[in-house]
Amino acid sequence: MTTDLIDGFLAAIPMPAVLVDQTERLIAENSAAAPLLGQEGKGRHFATVLRQPSVATAIEACLRDRKPRTARHLANDGAQDTTFAVTLRYVPGIGAVSGGAVLVCFDDVTEREQAGQMRRDFVANVSHELRTPLTALIGFIETLRGPAKDDTAARDRFLAIMEGEASRMNRLVGDLLSLNRVESEERVRPKQSVDLGAHLGSTLKTLVPVAEARGVSMNLEAPQGGIMVTGDPDQLQQVFTNLVENAVKYGGDEVRVLLSRSERDPAVRAAAARVQVIDNGPGIDPVHLPRLTERFYRADSHRSREMGGTGLGLAIVKHIINRHRGRLRVESELGQGSVFTVILPE
Ligand SMILES: Nc1ncnc2c1ncn2[C@@H]1O[C@H](COP(=O)(O)OP(=O)(O)OP(=O)(O)O)[C@@H](O)[C@H]1O
Ligand SMILES: [Mg+2]
Repeated sequence: MTTDLIDGFLAAIPMPAVLVDQTERLIAENSAAAPLLGQEGKGRHFATVLRQPSVATAIEACLRDRKPRTARHLANDGAQDTTFAVTLRYVPGIGAVSGGAVLVCFDDVTEREQAGQMRRDFVANVSHELRTPLTALIGFIETLRGPAKDDTAARDRFLAIMEGEASRMNRLVGDLLSLNRVESEERVRPKQSVDLGAHLGSTLKTLVPVAEARGVSMNLEAPQGGIMVTGDPDQLQQVFTNLVENAVKYGGDEVRVLLSRSERDPAVRAAAARVQVIDNGPGIDPVHLPRLTERFYRADSHRSREMGGTGLGLAIVKHIINRHRGRLRVESELGQGSVFTVILPE
């Protein structure tokens, strides 16, 4: 095979690939391999450009016995780690000396591995979240059957706790289903027209009992005349309910909701509505901010659990806002309260 033909074949392989012949030198590489090798590899001994022991050992062995092999290659471009699954196959009849070369292909499996890790973490989190209330329920059932059998006062108290634990599990399952639904619809653009001012007014009304129970005052400041956005009213209600509920639960004694509109919002580079939920509570430590919308992430996990939170609220919020092609901003300083801003293109 001519060099041109070999180069042509390698260029057609949709992943980094190099060929090493029996002289142990690279006889060809495609352009995708350039960042991996860090320098022009052609003509060099393979060990000078592919230094990782796992890959180098596999190439050596494959040149010797011509059997297929696999290896792993870890790369780091300074910003992030990349994992490659490397496959080695012997191609007879090309290259110098006794003929034949090893074709080494690098398949980037980083995302697949991350997705697997995320799935495992998710299952572990869900199991953990369900196990806590279940353990409590089982414990109380045992107590009610045994020691507290004839103790009416204790029975009522235990049943009340059991009810609380069961509704926590119910909420968790409800949130998980909701998250699933939101994620599966994320690519479907919402179509309805929503009058945000009126919508926020009715959402706040449903939260009055929660706010009153905690002695928190709520205020909506919206401009005269409606602000319309294209959206899914039920999902938007979920967004604002969670943000205002969080402000009531984790904030201070005052929650302000501000609605405004801008002809050209820099965040979405279009005309957009802005809803800000502002509280005067203890705020959120900046270390938590980047991870706040992750599933099950809680800034103050003790307090959140105590309040019956599942830690899924902001994950759902983020997916809904993505579906609306909007943005969520969180600004907070310890001791200064928090501002959650939702930007929705019109
Ligand atoms: N306004 C706020 N002030 C302080 N901390 C907040 C505020 N809003 C959210 N947090 C923190 O962010 C965490 C995540 O919020 P999220 O809404 O996702 O979960 P949750 O409220 O605990 O549970 P759920 O919303 O499912 O009931 C909360 O547990 C809390 O620690
Ligand atoms: Mg919440």
